[in-house]
Amino acid sequence: MSDWHIGVIGGSGLHEGLALDEAQEIAIRSPFGEPSGPVVTGLLRGVRFSFIARHGAGHAIPPSEVNYRANVDALKRAGATDLVALSAIGSLREDLAPGTFVAVDQFIDRTISRERSFFGSGIVAHVSMADPVCPRLSALVADAAEAAGTVVHRGGTYVAIEGPQFSTRAESALYRAWGGDVIGMTAMPEARLAREAELPYALLGMVTDYDCWRDGEAVAAAEVFGVMRENAARARDAMAALAGLLPATREPVPIDTALGDALATAPFARD
Ligand code: ADE
Repeated sequence: MSDWHIGVIGGSGLHEGLALDEAQEIAIRSPFGEPSGPVVTGLLRGVRFSFIARHGAGHAIPPSEVNYRANVDALKRAGATDLVALSAIGSLREDLAPGTFVAVDQFIDRTISRERSFFGSGIVAHVSMADPVCPRLSALVADAAEAAGTVVHRGGTYVAIEGPQFSTRAESALYRAWGGDVIGMTAMPEARLAREAELPYALLGMVTDYDCWRDGEAVAAAEVFGVMRENAARARDAMAALAGLLPATREPVPIDTALGDALATAPFARD
């Protein structure tokens, strides 16, 4: 049995999950509240995968109401060693066309109303977010998506907005001027929490639209969901390909011990 265990958080279009062998739902309790839904665990080519649908059954949970802490915590408790996020994204660049995938490696966080840390309430930790994505996992995921027949751009800065509305034209132009390549509503605080949970994180974004910066175009939700439906099968194929590409042994990475020097609170301080 592989020592990899891939946690997957699937976004719009992926609420039906992955086609896992021996799939079973497991109920996991988290002190951070209710995850978006049950964790479904099973095997792909002999590798364990555990899946949560980010927006819940029937896509009833909007980006601002996703319990990101409970989702990451539940997958950690399920035993995930690594976390792959699959998300719909808008494109802020001409060459990142709808239908292509982007292995995101940086974030600009414009979200304003979400629980963004597991810490607080007496325990202080400051993890590094300089390199928010695990380069090994991201490269494997990009290789897997390519093997599944998709055009993949490696690297890109994701602007996370609060939503649920899409951006104004002025905002879209601003994000482009900031160096944003793609835009979405869910990768933050997910990536922050993955780091605090010592889970290497990679985000495979599926471009659904050009946001609204191009002359005369505006984003329509129907367009986003239409492209996502077409992309969902390729995202599932990418996860099966990933299972086949993982090295036999999972060598440790520094993110596995991200909390090692991040805790500010003295372990046994009493007064
Ligand atoms: N998700 C997909 N397309 C998007 C866009 N243009 N803005 C924000 N989130 C998105």
